[in-house]
Amino acid sequence: MVFRILSLFFCAVLAMTLSQTTVCQENPQAVGQPDPLINRNGEKVTTAEQWKSQRRPEILELFRTQMYGMAPGRVARSEIRIAQTDKNFLNGKAMRLQLLIKLKAPSGEVHTIDVMLVVPQGTTPDKKYPVFLGLNFCGNHGIHPDPGIPLSTKWMPSSGQKGVVNNRATEAHRGVQASRWPLEQIIDQGFGVATAYYGDLEEDHKDGWKTGVRSLFPVDGKVGDQLPDHAWGAIGAWGWGLSRIMDALEIWHTVDAKRVYVHGHSRLGKTALWAGACDERFAMVISNNSGEGGAALARRLKGERTADLNRVFPHWYCKNFHQYSGHEEKLPFDQHWLIACMAPRLVYIASASDDAWADPEGEFLAGVHAEPVFQLFHLKGLGTALWPAVQTPVGNSIRYHLRQGKHDVTSYDWEQWMKAAPR
Ligand code: GCU
Repeated sequence: MVFRILSLFFCAVLAMTLSQTTVCQENPQAVGQPDPLINRNGEKVTTAEQWKSQRRPEILELFRTQMYGMAPGRVARSEIRIAQTDKNFLNGKAMRLQLLIKLKAPSGEVHTIDVMLVVPQGTTPDKKYPVFLGLNFCGNHGIHPDPGIPLSTKWMPSSGQKGVVNNRATEAHRGVQASRWPLEQIIDQGFGVATAYYGDLEEDHKDGWKTGVRSLFPVDGKVGDQLPDHAWGAIGAWGWGLSRIMDALEIWHTVDAKRVYVHGHSRLGKTALWAGACDERFAMVISNNSGEGGAALARRLKGERTADLNRVFPHWYCKNFHQYSGHEEKLPFDQHWLIACMAPRLVYIASASDDAWADPEGEFLAGVHAEPVFQLFHLKGLGTALWPAVQTPVGNSIRYHLRQGKHDVTSYDWEQWMKAAPR
């Protein structure tokens, strides 16, 4: 509360003095933000130890049962196979591997995730690289035009997508989202990239669970349409997939497992945040334009609302989340609690100026309100309550930038994440 009053005070003072800086304006209709440091019994959490052992688990449990849904844990039986190696990827700058991660379900059925791992061409074969891990929207072949990358055979939405015919990718689909994955720029800076098609885990439509991991890996002993109301939705399934890929990267000889940075754009930004909150192996968590149900504060009632999410994408969150449609004030948390779950790791919130639907200011404020949790670890989070001007990254353990432009991922965004990433 004190922090909120102080932040509004700073905003007001700076509004009068700075013309270049955009200043936060909380929606007057929006209700106050719940304090992440007041625990279930109404007591104040005052140490990092209490946060780690009691409060963080309590918060994750709430997000699990009310929003993203409970997911199964690690898979008891899994296997990694190298399906393809290209030692001359990016004109010899990089090495590309296609790894098939085979997850065996209790029923005996095997579910495969096709991971593309690209690392710089090393001087020694076993050199370990920090890696950016993120799911893609378009199949691995869609992130770079190289004809050697296997074309995904999975279902893809046909509408508005160049090169997708009858919900399947064709050769014309290669590299369609290459601008969002500037591989050369990333490799040149000494990082690797791991990615998989999000549809490898679950197709993104309301019946997607039928062929995805939610029909195979049980929660409370149940799968598919028998899943309880607090069990995983599609975002939970995609996030769980990121952790299963991490299981493989953790033992992969060219990956520095202490420096795997999980990232995602839009719905996959929501996914990256949830994966990063649950799985502390991710050293940095990056949300790009994740908006409502991701980094943006729901109680601001700006841009997309919970009712929009649940109506248009009823499969994304757990069934319990539907009771909050039009009732953001009833949520037992807000999204700054999710950001706080990354502490003491790095979290990067990236917004875009022309992306009102994702409420860029609300994304920033989630970082502001998560700050007290980072302070328990003696870390500076954003270190400011002023919404920065465009193209002006700010922060420390919580970083933020407002890119000029529309809902997208650009090389500017990557440049900032790479600057922030511990090497
Ligand atoms: C829609 C949706 C957003 C989502 C976005 C995306 O706009 O309303 O919540 O982030 O799609 O994933 O592209």
